[in-house]
Amino acid sequence: MYPLIYAHRGASGHAPENTMAAFRLALEEGAEGLELDVQLTADRQVVVIHDETLDRTTDGTGPVYSRTWEELRGLDASFGQEAYMGEGIPLLAQVLELLAPTQLELNIELKNGIVPYEGMEELVVRMVRQYGMEKRIVLSSFNHYSVARLAAMAPDIESAVLYAEGLYRPWEYAAFVGARSLHPHYLAVTPEIVMNAHMAGVKVRPWTVNSDEDYRRMAAAGVDAVITNYPCKFKALRG
Ligand code: G3P
Ligand code: MG
Repeated sequence: MYPLIYAHRGASGHAPENTMAAFRLALEEGAEGLELDVQLTADRQVVVIHDETLDRTTDGTGPVYSRTWEELRGLDASFGQEAYMGEGIPLLAQVLELLAPTQLELNIELKNGIVPYEGMEELVVRMVRQYGMEKRIVLSSFNHYSVARLAAMAPDIESAVLYAEGLYRPWEYAAFVGARSLHPHYLAVTPEIVMNAHMAGVKVRPWTVNSDEDYRRMAAAGVDAVITNYPCKFKALRG
């Protein structure tokens, strides 16, 4: 079994990260899943943006939580790339709308590790249910209190423990938190971890796998999916 290919922040190796253009490109390139990051605005809209602040990825400044959706909707998120002028910050609802008629899986990463975003889990779960996408969604976070809350409040929706390194017996930890999958940094993946995870019924989807060599190592370890900026490259490699 080859790993599924999830587009990290969309096809962000070629299009500006976390924009509708990057998600559409991932679809065109044949990705089987998307990964994206969500934050909350001052008026509690779920928006797709990686950082807690607007400065790196848009022409705005300051924290996302300090601005309303009305203030964010006109911002430019094209990174100054001519071909993507006019691309802005999407609402999570826009991406769910795009994916609803497809078969794609969607990993929604809740960025509530730094800003705690009270009640974010409920908002995201409600939207997933509105679109009837419970079976195709994976909810993940580096904030494992949040993962535990998600697992308890929506056991029918898969949740994943995100981590970077050194988690001891992560397949047991996933069960302890209530999560059904592990999303480790790819350097933290070993065949032993994948084998134990699979024996415990836990899926493994490493990030961010961008080189051919790392893809081959992950595939050999037997991971369920790779999260990559270059879905097109690995589609070609996988055949
Ligand atoms: O969800 C996998 C990966 O996106 C985690 O790191 O910083 O790219 O959101 P980051
Ligand atoms: Mg992410």
